[in-house]
Amino acid sequence: MKTTYLYILCAILALTVLIQAFSIARADKKSSPETDSLAAQSTVDTAAIVQNCILTRSSVRSFTDTPLTDGQMDSLVRAAMAAPTAADKRPWEIITITDRDILNAIAERFQTMTMMKSATAAIVICGDTANTLDGEGATYWIQDCSAATENLLLSAHGMGLGAVWCGIYPISSRVEDFSALLDLPEHIIPLSIVALGHPAGPTHPKEKYNPAKLHSQQW
Ligand SMILES: Cc1cc2nc3c(=O)[nH]c(=O)nc-3n(C[C@H](O)[C@H](O)[C@H](O)COP(=O)(O)O)c2cc1C
Repeated sequence: MKTTYLYILCAILALTVLIQAFSIARADKKSSPETDSLAAQSTVDTAAIVQNCILTRSSVRSFTDTPLTDGQMDSLVRAAMAAPTAADKRPWEIITITDRDILNAIAERFQTMTMMKSATAAIVICGDTANTLDGEGATYWIQDCSAATENLLLSAHGMGLGAVWCGIYPISSRVEDFSALLDLPEHIIPLSIVALGHPAGPTHPKEKYNPAKLHSQQW
């Protein structure tokens, strides 16, 4: 009996030593100069890719008739819902539209949205006013849904798609018309609709950097 206990104890000890040795080897590997420089390299690449995506995005208002895939629509919605929100409220509701008749109806009804005629899809970002902060923070849903809209635009551009942000809120006639068209409940306010598709031609990002608008430490 005593010998059995001794064997078990030895086996546990041996296992512990093995696990320790494995962990040390892994830790060494992680912090080797070679893997460190690889990690740094990948951070640099990611930074350059993200910066390039932001700086080369531009509004696209003319599209081919190639439809977006379900996977692309899914990625766009996921990007929108990854946006930061005040108190992490995520006060959005999102409506995807691929129905040609609805896209045409929007193009015909709104002068600023005629590009919907050639868009193959659109995504409406709405704010849920029943899921906002109390008091002065109640209108943070506007910033939250704006951040979601920008995320969506960048995701579209990153996938080689074209997109343009069309404003709905706070123009009350547009809010009313979209609420009726999309059968929205009272507490759901449409903030923006993004027209989507494959760009029909080259895109032309604007140079917007203006050092005169930059202030250091104080105005
Ligand atoms: C709140 C908001 C509302 C907009 N509404 C419209 C719109 O109704 N129709 C449109 O064609 N573009 C609209 N735009 C797109 C702007 O015209 C465009 O972002 C601006 O001219 C800058 O060009 P860029 O996006 O190519 O950098 C809107 C943009 C924002 C942020």
